[in-house]
Amino acid sequence: MKLADNKATLSFSNGSPSVELPVYQGNIGPDVIDIRKLYGQTGMFTYDPGFLSTASCQSAITYIDGDKGELLYRGYPIEQLATQCDFLETCHLLLYGDLPNADKKAAFSQRVTMHTMVNEQMQFFLRGFRRDAHPMAVLTGLVGALSAFYHDSTDINNPEHREIAAIRLIAKMPTLVAMAYKYGVGQPYMYPRNDLSYAGNFLRMMFGTPCEDYKVNPVLERAMDRIFILHADHEQNASTSTVRLCGSSGTNPFAAIAAGVACLWGPAHGGANEACLNMLEDIQANGGVAKVGEFMNQVKDKNSGVRLMGFGHRVYKNHDPRAKLMQETCKEVLAELGLENDPLFKLAMSLEKIALEDDYFVQRKLYPNVDFYSGIVQRALGIPVNLFTGIFALARTVGWIAQLNEMISDPEYKIGRPRQLFTGSPRRDVPPLAKR
Ligand code: CMC
Repeated sequence: MKLADNKATLSFSNGSPSVELPVYQGNIGPDVIDIRKLYGQTGMFTYDPGFLSTASCQSAITYIDGDKGELLYRGYPIEQLATQCDFLETCHLLLYGDLPNADKKAAFSQRVTMHTMVNEQMQFFLRGFRRDAHPMAVLTGLVGALSAFYHDSTDINNPEHREIAAIRLIAKMPTLVAMAYKYGVGQPYMYPRNDLSYAGNFLRMMFGTPCEDYKVNPVLERAMDRIFILHADHEQNASTSTVRLCGSSGTNPFAAIAAGVACLWGPAHGGANEACLNMLEDIQANGGVAKVGEFMNQVKDKNSGVRLMGFGHRVYKNHDPRAKLMQETCKEVLAELGLENDPLFKLAMSLEKIALEDDYFVQRKLYPNVDFYSGIVQRALGIPVNLFTGIFALARTVGWIAQLNEMISDPEYKIGRPRQLFTGSPRRDVPPLAKR
């Protein structure tokens, strides 16, 4: 961290002495005011529910400029990574700080590939779930259970354990997601095939059966890979912050990532793609494009509780750069599958067009986010709606583990422990039962 030339001065209207606070500069982005000594100096905390103005850590992994609509992984724009690299190169970049050269790429791919199988006992653990369990409930359990199977990589303070846990998580997530899917539909699990690409192997584990060969379609493989790249990291979002907070207690990496999976499930975060597709299907069932105007009126009515899912973002107050790439992929996949006239795609385009021109959305700077089109792509690939967030979790695992490992390697890291503004009852005595 670099100290800025200026300092911040906090003064009080009641005559208490003012305090000077150091200011640090990042390489890009807003400066931060260092309030670590604030409580010691003033006896006061800061109040920032939802962390709207709080940098919870320093990080060198991902940078978002929400006003510009820019997303950089280790400095590289998402548009370049999505069009010039594959997911495993992106994983290498996020984990180790730079893109691999050809030799490093081959070695890294080989390393990940060697860990794609999961302990055979995992399938018996999986069998304990109801077949109709939500895949995110299953995945939270399966990922947490990894710590019961891989004891030799659970010491978060050991850099070798952290490294092997990272590789295992990246390698095994596709296997676990596919197993959760196969279990739900009652088909046999497909073991990983190490001669396929990361995305190709995942598609085969999902849609192949032991009865016949599965041929990976390169357009769909590329689309899957792009979905993974676009979701790989997004700096200190809710699930990543959850992973950091959970990991800050010294718990093992699998447990910390399981906490991230649980957090991602919520509809305001990773669950939005599922919610978005459900919304499109509802509008379609209730009259389709002709009813878009009526639906938009509901969205704008504060009392309706209806939101346009796939729109708006806490950080992007401009286009989410991932949404454009996802829309491109959507067109490619639908063309490849002969679904150019897909009614949900048409509906989404019409909703987007209206929203981008409507004052309500313009004034609030609400633009389509990555989830607006990703549901349509995934549906076209054959992925069931309730697995969308599982796919997001698969892709985000590398971001979570890169952020977790960055935190643990940071000499300044401490257990996370926010404070509070207490608004409950002051001390009181318990009355006897008869008097309550
Ligand atoms: N539809 C209608 N109105 C909206 C929407 C929306 N999708 N999003 C925000 N608003 C309104 C909101 O009602 C508020 O209006 P007002 O100022 O009049 O009260 C204003 O815009 C600001 O909204 P906010 O809830 O204070 O904004 P936030 O930064 O806290 O919320 C958000 C961000 C993503 C939770 C929200 O935009 C939302 O619920 N979007 C729909 C869900 C969604 O698509 N989530 C996926 C996010 S991208 C995936 C990821 O990175 O995890």
